[in-house]
Amino acid sequence: MFFIHFITNLQIFWTFTEAISNCDTGFCQTYPFDTYGDALQDKELVGHVFHSSVISNPVQCYMLCKDDCRCLSFNYKENNDVKYCELNEASHFTHDSFHKSSVGSRYYNLRRFLHGKKDIVLYDDYQAISGDAPNWHAYLIKRPYLLWLRNSSTHWRATCRYNTDGTVYTDYLRASLEDFDIIIDQPTMTDVCRPYEYVNIRGNECVNCTARTWYKKGDYPLHIDSGKQNDCDFDEHSKDAVSSEDNFGYYSKINSKFRCTSSDSDTTQLWIGGK
Ligand SMILES: *[C@@H]1O[C@H](CO)[C@@H](O)[C@H](O)[C@H]1NC(C)=O
Ligand SMILES: *[C@@H]1O[C@H](CO)[C@@H](O)[C@H](O)[C@H]1NC(C)=O
Repeated sequence: MFFIHFITNLQIFWTFTEAISNCDTGFCQTYPFDTYGDALQDKELVGHVFHSSVISNPVQCYMLCKDDCRCLSFNYKENNDVKYCELNEASHFTHDSFHKSSVGSRYYNLRRFLHGKKDIVLYDDYQAISGDAPNWHAYLIKRPYLLWLRNSSTHWRATCRYNTDGTVYTDYLRASLEDFDIIIDQPTMTDVCRPYEYVNIRGNECVNCTARTWYKKGDYPLHIDSGKQNDCDFDEHSKDAVSSEDNFGYYSKINSKFRCTSSDSDTTQLWIGGK
């Protein structure tokens, strides 16, 4: 085996506005809701409210948000015994700077899965998911473990549908941590050519080459964009790509010919390890 350790599907649960159309098909899924565990006390997202109402408890607000595919997060407020629910069409992931302190408010990010479309983040302040119980649906390792693994690793890779297909080199990514350190480097990349040892997207491949990469905290989960002409070595925009196609870890524009997004249940896995 090439890689020994694995990080597993570091996945994520928020959707972006592009997800609205997918929701029309009735494929929204959400996580169980924890009234206190999921809240950020004395916080609210401002400027993105599309619906407000008076309600009786946070769970009601959650239900309203869950059933409206525009809703990415919500504010719950108590004021003189009146309880308000504000649904936001943004979240602190999509608009980090709007996250303000506000006494008496609680902010909730809706943990929504849209089948298979789970964005991947490795931010250093991101919380672990599912504790010590690895699974293929929602699992993010604790940051200290990740750093420990990083210390004994030389490479990282991304695979598609590993849980069903195993290791397949079509739709596959591999980079050395020395060239591109996804664990330690600050995620500030938008549209930059980053070095990879191997890139394969829909059977188009390149070796020791650069590919158009996005990874910006609060804005873009780690991914390659293969749907536009670019100056990087890997430029496959004309071969079966869809416009602005996103590959590995972000799912704004998806292509069913790419194995990570060929069906609603497909996922992407990120791994670190050594040769
Ligand atoms: C990583 O390795 C360095 C050097 O060997 C060591 O100082 C550091 O404590 C290690 N970090 C972790 C998280 O294991
Ligand atoms: C790619 O780079 C690696 C590391 O420098 C090297 O071992 C390998 O032979 C190179 N492969 C090709 C096809 O150039």
